[in-house]
Amino acid sequence: MNRPLRAAVIGCGNVAGNHAAAYARHPGVELVACADVDPGRAAALAARFGADPAGADDVLDLDLDLVSVCTPHPTHEAVVTAAAARGLHVLCEKPIAIDPAAAQRMVRACDDAGIRLGVLFQRRFWPAAQRIRRAIDDGTLGRPVLGEVAVLLHRDSSYYTADPWRGTWAADGGGVLTTQGVHYLDLLQWFMGDPVEVSCSHTTFKHADAIEVEDTAVATVRFAGGGLATVSMSTGLTPGLGCRIRVTGSNGATVGLSEYPEGTEARLDVWAVPGAAAAGSPYGEGLEPDVELAAINGALAPFHALQVADFVAAVRDGRDPAVTGREATRSLAMLTALYASAASGRPEPV
Ligand SMILES: NC(=O)c1ccc[n+]([C@@H]2O[C@H](COP(=O)([O-])OP(=O)(O)OC[C@H]3O[C@@H](n4cnc5c(N)ncnc54)[C@H](O)[C@@H]3O)[C@@H](O)[C@H]2O)c1
Repeated sequence: MNRPLRAAVIGCGNVAGNHAAAYARHPGVELVACADVDPGRAAALAARFGADPAGADDVLDLDLDLVSVCTPHPTHEAVVTAAAARGLHVLCEKPIAIDPAAAQRMVRACDDAGIRLGVLFQRRFWPAAQRIRRAIDDGTLGRPVLGEVAVLLHRDSSYYTADPWRGTWAADGGGVLTTQGVHYLDLLQWFMGDPVEVSCSHTTFKHADAIEVEDTAVATVRFAGGGLATVSMSTGLTPGLGCRIRVTGSNGATVGLSEYPEGTEARLDVWAVPGAAAAGSPYGEGLEPDVELAAINGALAPFHALQVADFVAAVRDGRDPAVTGREATRSLAMLTALYASAASGRPEPV
């Protein structure tokens, strides 16, 4: 197939510009349309990238090859399965869904339709994340035995009140664990292997006026390979301290990356492996003031572009994308177990 692949973005809110920009700049893709249930949002995004605006249903009639789904969490299933039923390849934003049964139905519908389903976890495409994964694969660390995740962010209440779907159990599916933290739960299981049991406790100390979901959570995770990890996450910090993940291997070596300020390409802040012990400050030269959401999303755009390029190549080459729908169900399974543990007050299986 030598002609450009015809792509559309469905859902034209905060993150959609990263997808539209990646398609518009990809030499093998034509960005045909930007679609939204809100015609004004579709028109605004389409105008930015020289595409046509479209409605949420008509977009599927545009003789497309693939779509990005950038709609709120509970709508992912309907939008993904409608696109799959038309034979379109789908790159869906994270989390794949907020209900594991919905995620399974999505994976099955895409398998049955014979189309590729990818799920956006663009932080896997950071060179620092790839380097950690290589250190695990090539045995530099031995077996991963100890993990540490900290997602310590700032959000204003206005972030939650800007859209009615945010901060509710029914529509957002959860708080910091689901919306911000799932990127790091994905990295954690990508590095440490299959989680088998979690314990979790969460609270809402900062944003209780604006949301019903958690803004703060702590958890421990036990992995099939015997590894253990701690997780702490919050959107209640002022200023935010960004995110970090560290992995210690069975030989005692530790590698880690930090994302600071939020959205900035992560750097390796610990590379304490045999023959090359090194650690830097995760905060660089100093603390930054809180970063605007648009700047956070904008800084992540090059890595959306890398994942979009991988997805386009997967469609062209008839291979799986880097993060398949099935792979994305793993972080969702962990999320579901974390909430179950917080509710039961006991460890819960994943
Ligand atoms: N990968 C990342 O770094 C990243 C960053 C931000 C958001 N996200 C994810 O992207 C998704 C969207 O988040 P957002 O912050 O852009 O949301 P948003 O609320 O800003 O935008 C969602 C858009 O979808 C539209 N919409 C709702 N239902 C629709 C439907 N059925 N068909 C077409 N359009 C519909 C809404 O009108 C809105 O314009 C979520 O899954 C979120 O978690 C990912």
